[in-house]
Amino acid sequence: MRIIILPTAQHVANYAADRVVDILNTRSNPVLGLATGSTPIALYQELIARYQSSQVSFQQSVTFNLDEYIGIPDTHAQSYRTFMNHHLFEQIDIELANTYVPLAETTNVSELQRNAQEYEVKIQNAGGIDLQILGIGVNGHIGFNEPTSSFASRTRIKTLAESTVEANKRFFSDDEFQPHLALTMGIGTILESKAVLLMATGQSKANSVKAMIEGPLSAMCPASALQLHAAATIVLDEEAASELTLKDYYQWCEQKRQQLHEGSWV
Ligand code: F6R
Repeated sequence: MRIIILPTAQHVANYAADRVVDILNTRSNPVLGLATGSTPIALYQELIARYQSSQVSFQQSVTFNLDEYIGIPDTHAQSYRTFMNHHLFEQIDIELANTYVPLAETTNVSELQRNAQEYEVKIQNAGGIDLQILGIGVNGHIGFNEPTSSFASRTRIKTLAESTVEANKRFFSDDEFQPHLALTMGIGTILESKAVLLMATGQSKANSVKAMIEGPLSAMCPASALQLHAAATIVLDEEAASELTLKDYYQWCEQKRQQLHEGSWV
């Protein structure tokens, strides 16, 4: 794991944007894995700014989102499709037909299972995900892979943890139906991405970040599965990094890496 600790959430977004732009500018048919939630909004704003200043185009790219709520239409204000259209897709030059979010409006189980399997096939047919962007839940989830999710899991129906429902309550009004189920890429699916970049900001993530990086490999912290990925970068602000025991070491590693690249390490 490469651990990068930066001063603020905006620095985290800028770093993530650099990585995404690098993929977009170096691959002929870039495939991005995207996340929703509060954390990547600053990344999406940064990508929009770079598109507007002609630093990048999304015309050739294909995107796959991690997850979607089951039982609400795509057009629902809180669907992840609406989130992505609003926060990114409608403001860049991507072909909307090349943006995939799991199809989860139906509550018919066999239809959902078929959609999940087809999602996996679509990812494979696109050549796999070049860079998967991830956030982390306060309970250590990635996508909606809640604690006890198998590290081998594939795209499937998942029941949300109580803490996740609670954390996402803020987006739904009191009288509104809030889904407790989601269709999510599995941990096995995520681990097949060629590279992953997990962003975490704020004090509320400090404990799950510590468990992910320094805790044991455990289904109790689904994000700890990223310890198994050969090209995983974790980019944190100071608050999210505040509980790390080896924080100084990670910063030292980055310094050494920089010096090595500059040829000034001896
Ligand atoms: C959403 C997703 C989730 C979030 C996580 C953190 O697509 O994959 O795992 O990344 O719940 O959410 P925020 O960023 O709102 O704290």
